[in-house]
Amino acid sequence: MEVVILQDATEIGGVGADAITVLLGRKPAAVLGLATGSSPLAIYDELARRRDAGLISFRGARGFTLDEYVGLPADHPQRYRTVIDEVFVSKVDFAPGGVQGPDGLAADIPAACAEYEAAIQDAGGVDLQILGIGTDGHIAFNEPGSSLGSRTRIKTLTMQTRMDNARFFGDDVDAVPTHCLTQGLATIMEARHLILVATGRRKAEAVHQLVEGPISALWPATILQLHPHATVLLDEAAARRLQLVDYYRETYRSKPEWQGI
Ligand code: F6R
Repeated sequence: MEVVILQDATEIGGVGADAITVLLGRKPAAVLGLATGSSPLAIYDELARRRDAGLISFRGARGFTLDEYVGLPADHPQRYRTVIDEVFVSKVDFAPGGVQGPDGLAADIPAACAEYEAAIQDAGGVDLQILGIGTDGHIAFNEPGSSLGSRTRIKTLTMQTRMDNARFFGDDVDAVPTHCLTQGLATIMEARHLILVATGRRKAEAVHQLVEGPISALWPATILQLHPHATVLLDEAAARRLQLVDYYRETYRSKPEWQGI
């Protein structure tokens, strides 16, 4: 796992966007895994800027979102499908239908989850997956206790996650859905490159566990320690509890620029 500590979200946006720019240059039909939430926004903004400048194109690429609330009406502004369209997809040039997400309104949820897994497989798997991390250590919505071998399925959100996300629902925790569909940990682990973004001191404990804790369902993000190509992009506040922080800084500083992340 590579840990990269940067100044702020803008710098994180640049480094994350660089990785996607290189990937699209090498593979215009790349498959991207898209997280919602605040963490990836700087990356999406920078990608949209590069697209506007004509430096990159998503025309041949595909996208798969990580998760979706169960039961939010199709026109609800916090539906993740709506959010990702608003913050990213509408600002770049994916072909129509190029981005898919799990169907939180499906009548047959197990069938919808199986179909989503099959769609990712049919697309050739995810080349680069963007991730955030919850304060409770979740990735996607794999809450503590999730099977480390899990696939796309329905999950119950923890009260911690619902409180964290209440800011998107007028600070009303009761308005945050109790359930979601989420890619599983095994699904995420099949992506060829994982880039996890965390900013702010509220993420510091989860980041410490992710990078330096024992692999455990209690902190689901720790499964990333088993991935051959996982990159963690942090600001100073999110890195403040890391024990080997000086080593991570030195490793990144001395890395040849051509190597990328
Ligand atoms: C959202 C997702 C979640 C978020 C996490 C952090 O698609 O997968 O795991 O990444 O809850 O959310 P933010 O970035 O809003 O702090």
